[in-house]
Amino acid sequence: MRFVQEPFSDENLAFFREMDKTKKTVILGIESSCDDTSAAVICNGLLLSNVTATQYVHEKYGGVVPEMASRAHEQNIIPVVHEAIVASGIDKKAIDAIAFTRGPGLMGSLLVGTSFAKGLSLSLGVPLIDVNHLQGHILAHFIDEPDTDTPHPRFPFLCLLVSGGNSQIVLVKAYNDMEIIGQTIDDAAGEAIDKCAKVMGLGYPGGPIIDKLARQGDPEAFVFSKPNIAGYNYSFSGLKTSFLYTLRDLTKENPCFIEEHKADLAASIEYSVVSILMKKLKKAAKDLGIKEIAIAGGVSANNGLRAACREAAAKYHWNLYIPKFSYTTDNAAMIAMAGYYKYLDRAFCDISLPPYSKVTFDR
Ligand code: KG4
Repeated sequence: MRFVQEPFSDENLAFFREMDKTKKTVILGIESSCDDTSAAVICNGLLLSNVTATQYVHEKYGGVVPEMASRAHEQNIIPVVHEAIVASGIDKKAIDAIAFTRGPGLMGSLLVGTSFAKGLSLSLGVPLIDVNHLQGHILAHFIDEPDTDTPHPRFPFLCLLVSGGNSQIVLVKAYNDMEIIGQTIDDAAGEAIDKCAKVMGLGYPGGPIIDKLARQGDPEAFVFSKPNIAGYNYSFSGLKTSFLYTLRDLTKENPCFIEEHKADLAASIEYSVVSILMKKLKKAAKDLGIKEIAIAGGVSANNGLRAACREAAAKYHWNLYIPKFSYTTDNAAMIAMAGYYKYLDRAFCDISLPPYSKVTFDR
């Protein structure tokens, strides 16, 4: 079965868009890129349901164990999709297309969601839409919720996309037209924070714990090395090493050092990461003359980053878009949303399309 019909002429696409305005388009989204199994239903951009099963099995290992993540997705995917359809109040026959996260992510995890989406599309006889997880995070800014009036960014806008695996500045020209203008050359911001938390003996994931501790600490108590990277790119590996060496030296003198300075250490590492992120974001906004600024991804839940963005917005007259906490972590609502915009462009994919694990915007 092939739903890929390309290329459509601009005239045909315009015709479809006019038709879509008068009809209700229902998209089922499926997300399984890491350790959250999620399904959501969206109708013309309005969220009808969003169900997520988070995997707690990884906590005791201090990080996601890929094999265990795949197994948990296998167990969760049917009940999660079923629950999302029931909670949306729609009949599954009303689904117009199935959007799924094709990548980047853990290959085993992606395979579960991808295979399930393919099977369901075959059985329902509806097209499949592959979604780039990173673009999903960005398009989460366009999700409408019942009885809520959320402002959406206007094109072109810049999005600081920060998560456990990615740190990028993305120039968003249209729903389906995005360009990465800067990205980390080594570790991601979330990964660096998580590693520092691990060295301090805090739990997993360390990001939210550091965030909480940082609120009681002095951000200038400790100074760590800052990267000097060209353009809008980032680097966090030097900061991580600097944090490690500082702790190594100070705990030699005082074995209780970490325990006694937990809050100051957390505040200082958070401050360093946020300063690095903000410096390049401000530079990009200034150079490109863009005042529509959004943040997205797991680290966008960080209170220090949110405060720094608000401060910059006030100073530089940015229109700032900060996602709801529930859309900062992995969720299928954003996948369904991205799927909806691809549906409007009739950008369907073939059932033979495999998932991919690496970061890219080319696919
Ligand atoms: O986007 P995400 O849920 O997963 C991917 O990496 O795709 O991001 C997870 C990352 C982790 O590194 C986690 O520690 C970090 O987001 N994170 C935070 C906060 N909440 C989650 N980092 C700092 N402050 C937070 N409040």
